[in-house]
Parts: sequence; C-alpha cells; structure tokens
Amino acid sequence: MYDTRFENEIAAIDLMGPEPADERSRELYYIAKLRKLIRERSEAAGRPLTACTVTFGCQMNARDSEKLIGILIKSGFEPTESENADFVIFNTCTVRDNADQRTFGRLGRISHLKKKNPLMKVAVCGCMMQEKGNVDKIRKSYPFVDLIFGTHNIFRFAEYLWEVYDKDSKVTQIWDKTDSIVENLPVERKYPFKSGVNIMFGCDNFCTYCIVPYVRGRERSRNPKEILRECENLAKDGVTEIMLLGQNVNSYGKGLDEPIGFAQLLNEVCKVEGIRRVRFMTPHPKDFSDDVIQVIRDNPKVARHVHFPLQSGSDKILKKMNRRYTKEQFIERALKIREQIPDVSITTDIIVGFPGETAQDVEDTLDVIRRVGFDNAYTFIYSPRRGTPAAKMPDQVPADVVKEGFDKVLSAVQQSARDRSAALEGKIMEGLVEEVNSQKEGYVTCRLSNNMIVHIPGDASLIGTYQQIHLEECKGFYYFGRIAGQD
Ligand code: SAH
Ligand code: SF4
Ligand code: F3S
Repeated sequence: MYDTRFENEIAAIDLMGPEPADERSRELYYIAKLRKLIRERSEAAGRPLTACTVTFGCQMNARDSEKLIGILIKSGFEPTESENADFVIFNTCTVRDNADQRTFGRLGRISHLKKKNPLMKVAVCGCMMQEKGNVDKIRKSYPFVDLIFGTHNIFRFAEYLWEVYDKDSKVTQIWDKTDSIVENLPVERKYPFKSGVNIMFGCDNFCTYCIVPYVRGRERSRNPKEILRECENLAKDGVTEIMLLGQNVNSYGKGLDEPIGFAQLLNEVCKVEGIRRVRFMTPHPKDFSDDVIQVIRDNPKVARHVHFPLQSGSDKILKKMNRRYTKEQFIERALKIREQIPDVSITTDIIVGFPGETAQDVEDTLDVIRRVGFDNAYTFIYSPRRGTPAAKMPDQVPADVVKEGFDKVLSAVQQSARDRSAALEGKIMEGLVEEVNSQKEGYVTCRLSNNMIVHIPGDASLIGTYQQIHLEECKGFYYFGRIAGQD
C-alpha cells in the first residue's frame, strides 16, 4: 500500500540547496536525493532495485522496521520479502545471547548471496549495534556489510543510505544517546488494518538482567497530541486495531509539559473514530495502578488482554532483579485485574536461572503460576548480558540446574494455558481476521480480543474484518473454529 503523503513535500525540495537543519526536513531532503539516484541505478540495472528488511526482537523493533521500509520505498526501492534483494537490512535484537547468534548466522548466509549479486548492499542496525563488541565483530568477520547504525540515530537512515550509494563507501554511525524524537516520517505498515504506535522510547527501570536500558537509552514519552494525531491518521487509512508500544507503558507521561498518565492516554486513544481495538505492550507490574484497570474494565475497545511480566515468583530473586514488587504484590495486582475484568487473559514472561536462584525460588515461581493461572507465558533461560549488574553476580546457576527448573516452569505454564483455553470451548467471541493460514489450506487466522489465535475456514477476502467466531476445538494454545452461524 503506497503512502501518498509526503509526495508534495518531497517534490518541493530543492536538491541543489543546502542540507536542512531540522531532522525531519533533512531526512526528506536525503529521500529526495536518493530517489533520483536509485532511479538511475534501476535504469542502469534494467529492473527496479529491491529492498528487504529482516527484523528480530520485540514489537518496537517491528515498528522501527516499518519506518525503515517506509523510507526505502519512498527512496525508490521495491519492497520484497526475499533476502535475495539489492538492499538487505537486519534490524537486530540483543536481549538474549541467542538473538545475537541468530543475526550472526543470517549474516553468514547472506555473504553468499552478496557474492552473486554485485549490486547488493547489506546494512545492520538496531539494539545489537549499540554494543561496541558486536560492531567490531561485524567489521572484522563480516567485512561485506556496507552500513551499520544504532537505535538512537535511526531517523538518519536516509542520509546514511545516501552516503552508502552515492560514495559507494562503508558507513558506521553509532550514537551513544539521543534526546530527540523525530515525528512524522514515512512508514509502511505490514498490515493494512492494524498498527503499533510508539508512545515512549527507552527504559529507566534497569532490571539487573536486562540490556534494554543500555541499548535503547533513557525513557522519553511522546507528546500525546502527536500520538493521537498518528492514531487518527491511521484510522483514516483503514486501521482499526492499535497497539500502544513502550518498554514500560504505564509510566507514560513522565517529563512531559502537560500532566497526563497512561490511563488517560488509553482512554483518549479509544475515542479516536474508527478505532475498534486498542492493545498495549508492555506494562510493568509495579506501576499497574487501579485507574488503568478501570479504563480497561469500562472501555470495551481496550483488548481483554494484559501482558503482565512476572520474571520470578521469589521475593529474594525479584529484589536482586530490581523489579520493585514482591510475590504477594504481584499476585494481588493480577487477581485484582481478573476480578475487575473477568474475561481478561493474563500472559507473562518468566526468567529461569537468574544468579542465586535455588529450587525453592523456582517453587515460588510455580506457586504464582498456579495461583494466577496465566493464559500464556514466555519462559526464558537467563542469559548474562555484558554490562548488566546481574552478569557480574557471583552465584551463576549451572546449566543442568537451570534446565531442571526451566522444564518445571514450562510444564506448569503449559498446563495453566491449556486449562484457561479449554474453558472457552463452545463460546462465541469476536475475532479480527489477520492472515491466510499458511499451514492449512482454505483457512484464515484470527485474533480474539484476549489475544488468542483461532483458525477458521475462509479466504483472503475476510482479512481485516471482524467476525463472531464459534470456538470449536481447543488445541492447547489456539483454537479451530468457524464463523458463528456457518456451523
Ligand atoms: N519491558 C518489557 C520487555 C523486556 S524484554 C518488560 O519489562 O517485560 C522481554 C522479556 O525478555 C523480559 O520480560 C524478560 O522476561 C526477558 N529477558 C530480558 N532480559 C533477559 C535476559 N538477560 N535473559 C533472559 N531473559 C531476558
Ligand atoms: Fe528491561 Fe526491565 Fe526495562 Fe523491561 S522494564 S525493558 S525488563 S529494564
Ligand atoms: Fe530486543 Fe531491542 Fe526489543 S534488545 S527485545 S529489540 S528493545
């Protein structure tokens, strides 16, 4: 779906003029310059140059990639899903070591494609690039990479791209921080009917295991007017579901001139005409106040889903993690959410193997799982991250002990998820049809308000529509069903 906004602005840019000073105009200036250059290169090649973004990590990275592809399309590239493209950019994650390894693996493979296509250029950006060791490794072991930049200067992408193409040079640009939020640049959504919307960037929580505050910088909230304007534009463009994004959404509003909190923002976004569902990711249990619970309860547009990251059920470990809540405080909040919003699903993240974790600590985690009854959970093995306090803690847990705890936690959350899902069998619930099912022919995949996935018979014409769905067959974490009335 080609976004026609910006066209007049780009057409009016004087390419002979000096580089504009403000960040947004500067970016559009380089897009305009690139457009001419990429057109010439495409003509010389006798075909349009193609571009592919490969994304790792969280929804925030996915949203960043939509901005990258937006700029690439505006600059004259044809988007493609295939890594066999003329420009490939890897938007990386470094939250756990396996995320790093995945990127290195993919880079290794792409070098073969690059040898076959002399036009091909490769870029790496995102969280992993904020770690000097990773940049050095790429420069040394993957010398074919043309462009490296980090999270703080992503809004300069067009400029770097220009440098790479115009001068045919290698570019590495890493900033160690930024205060700016550059608004209103091109973006190309993956789905026409739903979109993420950043409400804040960075994180100030410094959980001791977590690298995000180091690679994403200090917490900065976007101006509420900008957020609402983006939501209104998305709605006009056909978006009906919005996911508000931030590392700790319920601390939204700190440092802004006008006093506004997350609950109020959530309420305002629900009022945007045309928006039918609003999700948010991720809240922090320590800040999950009653007013947020009330807004969800009283506002049917807010999805019946709260992702509520536990991390550990042991007070001792929670303290060492700097999570700033106790086991009982977490349970109290979760049960209050359940009591106030009976049809809500609660999902979580759990880390097993944090330094000093004993079998008794794992028992505490299992106890929380049993008492809260999560609808789904991501369970992670603790991965030491360079520069974080936990990586230097003395009592790292041996791998075999971690494995034992991990298996127990995994089977407990799977049991809990199965029980919670099974309780919905036979119900009729509203689902948004998201995509054609690639595994099962003649089926499409829908997402319920509570985030559960249901596969139903149907075709591409249903995509983007809301349907009343009869939940017929529980498969553990997902369902098979059909449109109510068609059974
Ligand atoms: N801001 C969000 C998401 C952070 S990253 C939050 O607070 O929940 C997503 C998840 O990755 C975290 O919830 C945590 O469970 C996991 N994670 C983060 N750092 C990790 C590490 N070093 N090892 C293992 N899991 C980690
Ligand atoms: Fe990491 Fe904690 Fe911030 Fe989440 S809240 S991003 S886990 S430091
Ligand atoms: Fe990964 Fe960065 Fe997100 S480290 S989880 S992509 S903020």
